Amino acid sequence: MRKPQFIARQGRQPSGLFGSLVGRIMSKETAAANDIAIALLNVLSGDRVLDVGTGHGAALATLATLNDPGSLDGLDFSSTALKIAQKKNRSLLRSGRLHLHEGMSDDMPYADQSFDKILTMHTIYFWEDAAAHFKEIFRVLVPGGRFVIGFRPGDDTRAASIFPNNVYAFRTIADVKQLLEKAGFRIAETERRDDRKSILSWIAAERPSST
Ligand SMILES: C[S@@+](CC[C@H](N)C(=O)[O-])C[C@H]1O[C@@H](n2cnc3c(N)ncnc32)[C@H](O)[C@@H]1O
Repeated sequence: MRKPQFIARQGRQPSGLFGSLVGRIMSKETAAANDIAIALLNVLSGDRVLDVGTGHGAALATLATLNDPGSLDGLDFSSTALKIAQKKNRSLLRSGRLHLHEGMSDDMPYADQSFDKILTMHTIYFWEDAAAHFKEIFRVLVPGGRFVIGFRPGDDTRAASIFPNNVYAFRTIADVKQLLEKAGFRIAETERRDDRKSILSWIAAERPSST
């Protein structure tokens, strides 16, 4: 059954009380997919890690338990989502290891080459000009740094039949790879999981050391 518009819009940008509820439910629904993205990220001790479109911030909480990252950052353009992320990560914020920022992923409030590892999960559907977002992610990643993107690909026709197409745009794995390469990334790994309900895909890409 197709998801109603008002729920789909909350997925794109949670807002208000209902958005807060959607954000909390989402943190459970997307946990396994975020775990795979995090595993592909290969976080090393001291790495500066950014989660783009962090939403509820559950991935940041998981990242904090792994390999002792040097710093964690979460970016989202929804103040409702960031409030959930703040609550969930209170002690990390207090410790100064985590920073949360409200902002757009195609115009991020970070200096060039600020991060060693960047992930984004379930966000590309909402990026009309995905190339501009990839260009910005490339800018804030260090040469030799790794970027992992996780998404439901357009290769799965079920996705397009469930989510309203004026809110969600599904791109094929081949299209996303091509956009990443155009932005200057080198594709390092691709992961795909199919089950009876959906296909999920992750691409790990690297900013070449010489750029
Ligand atoms: C479907 S939720 C996914 C949240 C989380 N990454 C996960 O996997 O559960 C998408 C999140 O990305 C945020 N978002 C979407 N487009 C964005 C953009 N252009 N810039 C910043 N945040 C964005 C939304 O506000 C929302 O919190």
